[in-house]
Amino acid sequence: MITRYTFGNPVETYAVPQKPEACGKLLPFFERSEDGLTYSMKLNKDEIVYGLGEQIRGINKRGWTYTSFCADNPHHEEGTHSLYGAHNFLVFDREKPFGVFFDHPGEMTFDIGYSDLDTIKITARYPDTDIYIIDGETPYGIVRAFRKLIGQSYIPPLFGFGFQQSRWGYRCKEDVDRVLEAYSAYGLPLDSVCLDIDYMEDYKDFTVNSGRFPDFEDYVASLKKENIHLIPIIDAGVKIEEGYDVYEEGRENGYFCKKQDGSDFVAGVWPGRTHFPDFLNPDVRKWFGEKYYRLTEAGIEGFWNDMNEPAMFYSDEGLEKAKQQIQAVFSKEIDIEGFFALGGLMNSISNSPADYASFYHEFDGIRARHDTVHNLFGYNMTKAAAEAFAAKYPDRRLLLYSRASYIGAHRYGGIWTGDNMSWWSHLLLNIKMMPSLNMCGFLYSGADLGGFGADTSGDLLLRWLQFGIFTPLMRDHSAIGTLLQEPYRFGNIDAFRRTLQLRYRLMGYIYSEFMKAALEDECLFRPLAFDYPEDTFAKRVEDQLMFGESLMLAPVYEQNARGRYVYLPEDMLFVKFISLEEAENERFVEYLEDGTPYIAKPMPAGHHYIDVALDETHLFVRPGKLLPLLRPANTTAELDFTAPEVIAYPHGQKELAYRYYTDDGVTKDYTEASHFKNIVFTVK
Ligand code: GLC
Repeated sequence: MITRYTFGNPVETYAVPQKPEACGKLLPFFERSEDGLTYSMKLNKDEIVYGLGEQIRGINKRGWTYTSFCADNPHHEEGTHSLYGAHNFLVFDREKPFGVFFDHPGEMTFDIGYSDLDTIKITARYPDTDIYIIDGETPYGIVRAFRKLIGQSYIPPLFGFGFQQSRWGYRCKEDVDRVLEAYSAYGLPLDSVCLDIDYMEDYKDFTVNSGRFPDFEDYVASLKKENIHLIPIIDAGVKIEEGYDVYEEGRENGYFCKKQDGSDFVAGVWPGRTHFPDFLNPDVRKWFGEKYYRLTEAGIEGFWNDMNEPAMFYSDEGLEKAKQQIQAVFSKEIDIEGFFALGGLMNSISNSPADYASFYHEFDGIRARHDTVHNLFGYNMTKAAAEAFAAKYPDRRLLLYSRASYIGAHRYGGIWTGDNMSWWSHLLLNIKMMPSLNMCGFLYSGADLGGFGADTSGDLLLRWLQFGIFTPLMRDHSAIGTLLQEPYRFGNIDAFRRTLQLRYRLMGYIYSEFMKAALEDECLFRPLAFDYPEDTFAKRVEDQLMFGESLMLAPVYEQNARGRYVYLPEDMLFVKFISLEEAENERFVEYLEDGTPYIAKPMPAGHHYIDVALDETHLFVRPGKLLPLLRPANTTAELDFTAPEVIAYPHGQKELAYRYYTDDGVTKDYTEASHFKNIVFTVK
């Protein structure tokens, strides 16, 4: 059961498409302070708290203070409080479990047993809030009910499940061609190459630099013949430049966010001085969304929306203030205090609270100061694109993912988890974040594999890909100035090839499970406790995940580890894909139809140590379950979904069945009964 409690006059966020009537009763569980800003509740000893989507730390959110205020923050570290998303949904695993969703677009903090070990204290910036309490029998049941409430998750086209190669630094057609040639020469599968800001003319949205990408339309078409897609980036800020039509139109029509005095707010982002379109306003969304047609008409079928927290390096006002303060420091002889103040001064003007409180949005007949609705900005940029796609291409799926998000955005696009680092700890963070993202509706998601900032290493990239082959959005992306990070840069090509090929082999399963999760409000990635609620050990596991109906994953995420400890809540089949050389030394090797060797070893429930060499990818099949596998191909378009072979773990059962989903990967008639087929496996 879901009950809505409403306080004050909350802004309509459209996070919940069909809001139940507010009940008018007292809010249960929480003690609400008189000013309506804080909500407190005692936590039971060892009670697990799930949720919060894109956040740092563990699956169990206890022991830290998290802030929901979409942040352009490349420091995904233990001391961080907020990342790019604001996902205010929590589930409390207690005797009578319940979930809560705070539909509040301003800043919120969740002190979950941090200041006081046994108390959760939630603070909202304003008392105006819609609060949903979700009752249910189990945490997973509550998550499903919540997912139903917030509406069906975004479904990308099939090519969006293919591997994407990206780098901030592919500047021109020749750079892209070189990458594609290498992929082809090394026999590595690939579906897309992402275009970062350098494809544009001076970082102007919806322009293509014709010097660096001559005959763009022809180029897009020629790549499409090879089943390769280009995925350009679109940034939130519109460059201020006389004669640039997007700027001119936006200014003339009053489509940009304004300051108190009515002038257009100016923020410094990649293009230099920019204006922010007021995405919360439906007219502005329509106008901006239709601009994407320039690229879709050139053959583009996918986009990534960036810098939409919105990120701002500086504002005119912030820059001026910092300038004065710096001048003041230099006006006298510099002392230690002055010296350290200098560094801080420039940093403090980026993404500053004062700037977020200095411009306004106009929508639904209201005028809202930006900071009060901050978390809706990126969400509505994504919505702008998605609404425009739906209007022009009603039957077609386009690929779309964003950096900033709020619950509700999950209906319009996916998200990638922003500027992580090439650190082993960020591989683990990626693992822990996936189930929380799924709980909040973000199924099409993934991290920058190999890490965005800092130099990666071959072993880190390989281990990360071994997990990344399971994330729906699978993209290798890295920052300018870091070590080149394509999988062919690190030797041992065979290991990288087998890993990427496994992604394509698994596509029948990944696609089926993704579609079932989207259509039936399930989580693709789940904490073990969701499937084994009675198992106290399962509840404590933070580095293994259930993946779809047949699999459990236990990735290796530590450098130089050649295996790891795992906990099996029930008997499972340990499956490990190995190299041909290794197969010669193994006694019990099995082979897929195309001769690919693997080991399949039943293991009893309990604790084990498993060996997993650096070039091996492993997974666990649950008892009575099937894993369909396809023949690998170089792109998703070339995959043959019709007759998968299966790895089965009968575990005493005579007949096993798997609900297999296929469609054309492009159109939207998902619910056609013919998309579902039953794969039946009989033990001879
Ligand atoms: C931001 C994005 C990153 C991108 C860069 C340049 O940092 O998060 O992915 O490469 O901007 O556009």
